[in-house]
Amino acid sequence: MAVNPLRDELRMHRVPGPCAMVIFGGQGDLAGRKLVPALYNLYLRRLLPTGFALIGIGRRDAGGDEGYRAEMRARCESFSRTPVTEVEWQGFAAMLHWITGNFDDAATYAALAARLAAADTDLGTAGNVLYYLSVPPSQFPVIVDGLGDAGLAAETDRTFRRVVIEKPFGSDLASSAALNASVHRAFAERQIFRIDHYLGKESVQNILVFRFANGIFEPVWNRNFIDHVQITVAESIGVEGRGRFYEEAGALRDIVQNHMLQVLSFVAMEPPASFDAEAVRDERGKALVSCRPVRPADVVRGQYVAGHADGRLARSYREEEGVGAHSDVETYIAMRLLIDNWRWADTPIYLRTGKRLPKRVTEVAIQFKRVPHLPFSYAAAEQLEPNVLVLRIQPNEGISLRFGAKVPSERIQIRTVNMDFQYDTAFSSSPAEAYETLLLDVMRGDGTNFPRQDAVEESWRIIEPLLDSWQLQGGGPHHYEAGSWGPEAADELVARDRRRWRRP
Ligand code: BG6
Repeated sequence: MAVNPLRDELRMHRVPGPCAMVIFGGQGDLAGRKLVPALYNLYLRRLLPTGFALIGIGRRDAGGDEGYRAEMRARCESFSRTPVTEVEWQGFAAMLHWITGNFDDAATYAALAARLAAADTDLGTAGNVLYYLSVPPSQFPVIVDGLGDAGLAAETDRTFRRVVIEKPFGSDLASSAALNASVHRAFAERQIFRIDHYLGKESVQNILVFRFANGIFEPVWNRNFIDHVQITVAESIGVEGRGRFYEEAGALRDIVQNHMLQVLSFVAMEPPASFDAEAVRDERGKALVSCRPVRPADVVRGQYVAGHADGRLARSYREEEGVGAHSDVETYIAMRLLIDNWRWADTPIYLRTGKRLPKRVTEVAIQFKRVPHLPFSYAAAEQLEPNVLVLRIQPNEGISLRFGAKVPSERIQIRTVNMDFQYDTAFSSSPAEAYETLLLDVMRGDGTNFPRQDAVEESWRIIEPLLDSWQLQGGGPHHYEAGSWGPEAADELVARDRRRWRRP
């Protein structure tokens, strides 16, 4: 691929030093769909270090290095954002290796140590390693102990060892703290990267730039001007063969506790003193500290039943593979949150997320208050809606502002119009996948876009009353048809406050 010489210097600042990356669960869904395609794209963008190796580990035999390469090629052909070409693939594939082994077997770690030593010699990985735990949460402590016991977590003055842990980090407040303690048995805090891929999305990172690089939004970004906020993470897909995982997680642990509360922390935080990792993480953490634990009465759970989604007949959640025939796990959540501080007091934040909704859309809508007095007739302003600022996280990443405008005519007639900014028309390049950004961050040792343990625990604290109440009372979810916007009870939740959900 030709490199623009004018941009080459820019690129050189971003290429991390040599390292090996080890993926536990190297054949899993996340590795094949996201991680390996992200690495392949970094390779195409010439952002992978020159000395690099990727070592997949798993219980199933992948057919040695060659088998693993062929399998990952097929996954990249399906999931890479840029097409796989023969020449580039050959260069990338030469860095891929496979180890078959159980995570609780010391022999697996001995084989890994040997493979890492060979990568240092053959591929110049310089003793630096990042371990990616792309496995079910119950395996995290086993692997961390295995690495620790084998001496594979120890850094030297000149080499790093880092560990990346997928969400959800724990399954409630207590288990999250316990998991943290067990990871700390082998790794120091600066070596630990708790990943939440929403923080790698350009449009999420842009919330900070939008708020703090512009003078006109921050003065109105508070309870005096904002009526309420709606955060929506809607997906048209179902559980996509991940039924077993989903049965343990549900929408609350899969999306709300991490992705949604992290996005909320960007929207609600105070301006940091600098863009330094700790300064930003301190402010995001403080926003979560101010969140009041949610009341079960302010939450609606839903589960999809058969219906039409994505133009096809979709089966019900209970009929998905790996899901119990009587499962009460939620695939939809709507909730009302309050933040107890000077900026947000009494300004409700409504969150909703669901699978099998009519379309895929993630957005933050800042709904402003109505004007205190309208000097126009009711008839003229009948179609006027209050101002809304919408941060579109995906797809069609962008920002739009809704305001009233005079309809061209000899009399006053007001209609609501939109002013729109779209990433793909404003900038010529399409945004990188979140995992590309975050993997580069880990290689460089930059923790800005990774939640710290305090933020993870605050998020569990906020939803803890729900876990307790569901455990005690059972209470099944409301049902909604696949392809609809969720249960009616969710509309009633906001109608109670004389508000309604936006149709994104
Ligand atoms: C993952 C969840 O973290 O995020 C999935 O486990 C969900 O259930 C996915 O589909 C959504 O990610 P994105 O980037 O497509 O919004």
